[in-house]
Amino acid sequence: MPVRTRVGVVGAGPAGLTLARLLERAGVETVVLEARSREYCEQRIRAGVLEHPTAALLREAGVGERLDREGIEHGGIYLQFEGERHHVPMRELVGQGIVVYGQTEVVKDLIEARVEGGLPLLFDTPVESIDPQSGVIRHAGGELECDVIAGCDGFHGVCRSSIPDSVLRTFERAYPFGWLGILASVAPSTDELVYAHHERGFALLSLRSPQLSRSYVQVSPDEDVAAWPDERIWEELRIRTALDGWELKEGPVLEKGVTGMRSFVTQPMQHERLYLAGDAAHIVPPTGAKGLNLAIADVRVLAEAIVDGGLERYSERCLRRVWRAEHFSWWMTSMLHKLPGGDPFDEQLQLSQLRYVTTSEAAARGLAENYTGLVAP
Ligand code: FAD
Ligand code: PHB
Repeated sequence: MPVRTRVGVVGAGPAGLTLARLLERAGVETVVLEARSREYCEQRIRAGVLEHPTAALLREAGVGERLDREGIEHGGIYLQFEGERHHVPMRELVGQGIVVYGQTEVVKDLIEARVEGGLPLLFDTPVESIDPQSGVIRHAGGELECDVIAGCDGFHGVCRSSIPDSVLRTFERAYPFGWLGILASVAPSTDELVYAHHERGFALLSLRSPQLSRSYVQVSPDEDVAAWPDERIWEELRIRTALDGWELKEGPVLEKGVTGMRSFVTQPMQHERLYLAGDAAHIVPPTGAKGLNLAIADVRVLAEAIVDGGLERYSERCLRRVWRAEHFSWWMTSMLHKLPGGDPFDEQLQLSQLRYVTTSEAAARGLAENYTGLVAP
C-alpha cells in the first residue's frame, strides 16, 4: 500500500472508478480506496440509463467495448397517462438517444480495466476520516498522503462531512414517496421505457437486457418490502401500465428493494485539497435517470482540471449542470407521481403538462434534450 500518491480517490462507484480511469490514461498516479468488497460493488443494482455523452465518455476512456456489444440503444421513451401511451421520439427531436446498460455493468468494466492495469484499487478498506487541508486520508490500514482527494464516496460517505459547516451550503427536498423496484427474469414488454402516470401512483417499465426486465412502482418512502409479495407487485404494475391490446410479461422476481427519493445539492463542491463528485455532492430523484450520468459528468470536469489546471473553478463548472439536472429530475418527478393528499388541482396541472409535452414538438424537444444529456448548459 503506497503512503503517498497524487490523487487519492475515496469510493469505487461510477464516479471514483471513472475518475481513476481518466487519470490513468493521462498518466496521473491514483489510489482508489473502497469500503466494500469487489463482489458487493459488482452486484449492487442501481441505475440503468446512460445519456449519450456518458456512453461517449466511457468509449473514449477505453471501457466501451462491452457497452457497445451489450448496451441497448433507445431513441425515445413512452409517457403514459389517462390510459394512453405516447411516444417521445428523442433521437428525431434532438439527434441523440440513450443507451440502456446497467450501472452494475459499467462498474464491472471499470474494475476489470483497473485490475488488468495492475493499479491500486483497495477493496474492504473503509476510509475513517480525511483532512482536506493536509490531504491525508486515514483508513484502518494506515494513512495516505495526497495532493488531491477525490470524494467519490456517495451520499453516506465521510468526505462531505469533513468540510466545515461554515463553508458548506446545502439545499434539500425530500419527497413523500419512494420506488419499489424489481429485477425480473423475463423479456421486456415494450421496445422503450414506459413512464406511467396513474391514479394509483407512478409506474416505470425498464430493462437490463433482452432477458431481464426492471420495473418500479410508486410506494410510500418507508414501505416495507415484506408487504409486497411478487403477485402484488405484478398486479400493481399491470393496473398502472394497462393498455388495450397490450400485455405485461411476467416472470420470476430476482431482486426487490425500496429506494427513497430526495433532491440534495452541496455548494461548493470543493474545499482546500478535497473535491466532491457524484452522490457525495448531490442527489436527484431517479425519475430523470440522471444520478449516474451526473456523477460521470463531474469526474470528466475534475479529471480535466487535475490534468490541465483550473481546479479552483471545478465546483463552479459543475454546479450549473448539476442544477439543470436537479430541475429536470424534480420536474419529471412532480409531473408523474401521485401526490399524497390527492389535490385535484395538482393532478389537473400534471395532466396538462403531460398533454403539452406529448403534443407540442417544442415542449417534447425540451424534455428530450434534458433526458438524453445536455453537454454544456
Ligand atoms: P456510489 O455509487 O454511491 O459510490 C460510492 C462508493 O463509495 C460506494 O462503492 C461506497 O461503498 C463507497 N464508500 C462509501 N463510504 C466510503 C468510505 N468511508 N470509504 C471508502 N469507500 C466508501 N440513479 C438512476 O439514475 N436511476 C436509478 O434507478 C437509480 N437507482 C438507485 C438505487 C439506489 C438504492 C441508490 C442508492 C441510488 C440509485 N441511483 C439511481 C443513483 C445512482 O445509482 C447514483 O447516482 C450513482 O451510484 C452515483 O455514483 P457515485 O459513484 O457518486 O456513488
Ligand atoms: C432503471 O432502469 O433502473 C431506470 C430507468 C429510468 C429511470 C430510473 C431507473 O428514470
